[in-house]
Parts: sequence; C-alpha cells; structure tokens
Amino acid sequence: MTFIPYISQERINSRITELGKQITREYAGKMPLFICVLNGAFPFASDLFRQFDSDGEIEFIRLKSYQGTGSTGVVKEILGLNADIKDRDIIIVEDIVDTGRTIEKLINDLSKNGPRSIRVATLLFKPEALEVDLKPDYIGFSIPKKFIIGFGLDLDEVARNLNDIYVLKED
Ligand code: HPA
Ligand code: MG
Repeated sequence: MTFIPYISQERINSRITELGKQITREYAGKMPLFICVLNGAFPFASDLFRQFDSDGEIEFIRLKSYQGTGSTGVVKEILGLNADIKDRDIIIVEDIVDTGRTIEKLINDLSKNGPRSIRVATLLFKPEALEVDLKPDYIGFSIPKKFIIGFGLDLDEVARNLNDIYVLKED
C-alpha cells in the first residue's frame, strides 16, 4: 500500500485560519459550543478552536458503535457530552464527512436536547460518498472518494499524527 502527499500542512493551516475567521464573524458574542468528535477531529478542532477569536467553549465526544437489531445496522451512541446544550449554538467539528450517516445521527440526537442551532464544520468532505440529505456548513476541502490519512485521519488507528494529508495510491 502506497500513500502519496495530497494536502500540505501549509494549505491545511491557511484553510483552517480562513474558516476560523468566518466562524468568528458569524459567532462572535454567541458563546458557541464546539463539539469535537473523537478521535479523528482532535487536530482540526484544536486548530479551529484557537482560530476562533471570541469567547467559546469546547467539549469532546466519542461515538460508540454497536450493531442495531433493525435493518439500519450500526447504531451510534454519544459518550462524554457533559455540557447542557439547551439554547446553545453548537458547532460539531468532524475530521471527515463521508456517507454522512454519522453526522446525521449526531445532529438528530443533539437536536433532542433543545440547542438553539447546530452547524457542522468538517476538515474534509467527500460529496460523491454522501448518502444523506445534508451538506456541512464549513468545509475545509471537498475531495474525491479516495482513501486519505493524516492530520487526525487514520488507517487502523495509525497515521493520525502526520502533519500533512496523504492519499492512497491506486494502480
Ligand atoms: N480516511 C480515513 N478515515 C476515513 C476516511 C478516509 O478517507 N473516510 C471515512 N473515514
Ligand atoms: Mg477511522
């Protein structure tokens, strides 16, 4: 298996800076709650949150997968959300939106607790893989349906610490 350089650290950093400025313009004074979806989103969330130039909070959640009894297959349960999200402006921070199933479930579950708004910030988006009617509000990079690693994204839990993003070479 060969991975080749795809998105450099410099491009990632400057894109996150732009997103941070945009989110600052749109959320300054609203005390937004960033919700980082572990494990993959931690480097992106760390950088994006520090580019948010106003007061805000951050929480970290994990999604526990288990096999559902119905036809839907894997059901995900939210672990670790300590904050009361009622009337809060939520920004879910993801590393990647692929099929969109995870983010759809997360939005549905969080919505039950009465937040004022929910938006999604994702470092990467694969529009061609999307299976649900949803588009992330803040997108770092839209990419083709190829397997990538680095900057939080893993291959069997390895490679999350790479500073650049790499794509699997197909041949
Ligand atoms: N890489 C790593 N993890 C992922 C990907 C990917 O391309 N798509 C969804 N999860
Ligand atoms: Mg993974």
